[in-house]
Amino acid sequence: MEFYDVIFKRKSIRHYKETPLDDARLEEILQYSRALTPLFPEIKTSFGIIKNESVNGLFAIDAPQYLAFYSEEKESHYLNAGFLMQQMDLYLSATGLGACWLGMAKPRMKEKDGLAFIMMFAFGEPNQTLHRKDVSEFKRKPLAEVAEGGDGRLEAAWLAPSAANAQPWFFSCSDGAVDVFRVKLNPVKAAVFDRLNLIDSGIALCHLKVATEHMGKPFSFAQTPEKSKKGYQYIGTVLS
Ligand SMILES: Cc1cc2nc3c(=O)[nH]c(=O)nc-3n(C[C@H](O)[C@H](O)[C@H](O)COP(=O)(O)O)c2cc1C
Repeated sequence: MEFYDVIFKRKSIRHYKETPLDDARLEEILQYSRALTPLFPEIKTSFGIIKNESVNGLFAIDAPQYLAFYSEEKESHYLNAGFLMQQMDLYLSATGLGACWLGMAKPRMKEKDGLAFIMMFAFGEPNQTLHRKDVSEFKRKPLAEVAEGGDGRLEAAWLAPSAANAQPWFFSCSDGAVDVFRVKLNPVKAAVFDRLNLIDSGIALCHLKVATEHMGKPFSFAQTPEKSKKGYQYIGTVLS
């Protein structure tokens, strides 16, 4: 299944068959993760698979294995994390496997090749329906609440998953470009959600990339010149 089509069907999978995937399949998944397109190629990253570990933490899910993401901690590394990990979420869903992001869970291995643990998801053979029938099954804010102007890629961005389904983004479209913003947080909310909302923004950018390429255009992202919108923080602009 094409990634673009997966965007309109995917869902978080929280029930898994107990049997772990075999080593050949896990190696194939890791191989795929090594060839992803980053948003910021200068940031070093790595994926690892966690097996035989019962992962704890708020809202954690039991699964036979987990995919953990590690990164250099540089400016924009959370955006980059969301962008890369969502490519894996779509890949797993496209190849018949379920996945669910785990925003608060932590594995035992907090470091890999000198890179810090950033985020993980549970994945495996689903023990529930893998895909939604159609867009009507998505729970999302009305599109008009999170977007202005028209663009053929908007629906794909709107359906992106986000922590606690907060959908903290705003898409402003004009002249074939999409300016991406995220909600400004008060200091109390920021303590928990700043990291998660940046990752969410990276996820939305991943869906915009897939939609841009589906239209036969190259994906191009820029953060200057800075745009402003009251109550929001500028993330960047998808150009083409
Ligand atoms: C960064 C991030 C963290 C998340 N953390 C959790 C979590 O800890 N536990 C959980 O059950 N779901 C988690 N989710 C899944 C969201 O709740 C889910 O994506 C959202 O409700 C939208 O539903 P959908 O993915 O089925 O479209 C997380 C999603 C994201 C993007």
